[in-house]
Amino acid sequence: MLFKLFYLLKAPKEFDKLLLASVNSSCYKEFCLKVYGEDFSQFNIVDEESFSFFLKTLEKIKVRSALDLGCGNGVLTTYLAQKLDCHITGVDFSPQITVFNQNKSNKKNSFQRGVLEFYSSKEIFDLIYSLDGLYSIKKKKSFFTKIKKMLSPNGMFLFFQTEVSGARGQIIDALKETGFKVEQKDFSFNEQRLWERVLKIGKEMEGDFKKEGNLSLLHTRMAEAKRSLYFYQQNLASRHLFIAR
Ligand SMILES: C[S@@+](CC[C@H](N)C(=O)[O-])C[C@H]1O[C@@H](n2cnc3c(N)ncnc32)[C@H](O)[C@@H]1O
Repeated sequence: MLFKLFYLLKAPKEFDKLLLASVNSSCYKEFCLKVYGEDFSQFNIVDEESFSFFLKTLEKIKVRSALDLGCGNGVLTTYLAQKLDCHITGVDFSPQITVFNQNKSNKKNSFQRGVLEFYSSKEIFDLIYSLDGLYSIKKKKSFFTKIKKMLSPNGMFLFFQTEVSGARGQIIDALKETGFKVEQKDFSFNEQRLWERVLKIGKEMEGDFKKEGNLSLLHTRMAEAKRSLYFYQQNLASRHLFIAR
């Protein structure tokens, strides 16, 4: 209980503010369109090609209900619920964006504030996914064990993750030890090109973001791009979509 409180308090307030700003920023919509090829006001690193691959993989299962881990501003959660014609529960620990999401909940979407490390549900899901929301999970095996309990027998657990210096082996081992069969697809090249676009388009749009009063939103994404490209230049990073069943 105390740990949970600690994590909830630890949820970065600055990032929460940025998530909220993103849904009201026309500059961010234009930026996403240029960087990702489609605007979902997204905060992930899932480019058009990796998103199409993700959607194609989902065609293998019948999805009636899904769980989105680290759903952020919920724009993609809402889109996917429509696209897959299912109910999706989005979970995120950011307080203000969760309230914002809850206010636009509908028959297909519900949103909960929760810390992923402690989240559990009695509901069983056909699909559990995360678009770059699992980076903080340290105790992977116990986390994946919990996920397996919430997954229907024919269900699928998919997540995109960038790993720095060899963490991929730990993810695969933990998934296998939990009893999952795992496939993975390398999207490291896609990630590097995406970050390069963030820097290029970011530079071009700096004036617009400044006028709109959302320069910190852009600068946060650009700082992330510089950091990530540095890790790639040092051969320390790689990115995969993990598909576990
Ligand atoms: C990179 S963003 C991706 C957001 C969204 N999935 C998207 O595609 O735009 C990661 C999200 O995960 C949430 N998050 C990170 N660690 C979390 C944790 N331990 N518990 C709950 N949410 C977490 C953050 O608040 C953030 O909204």
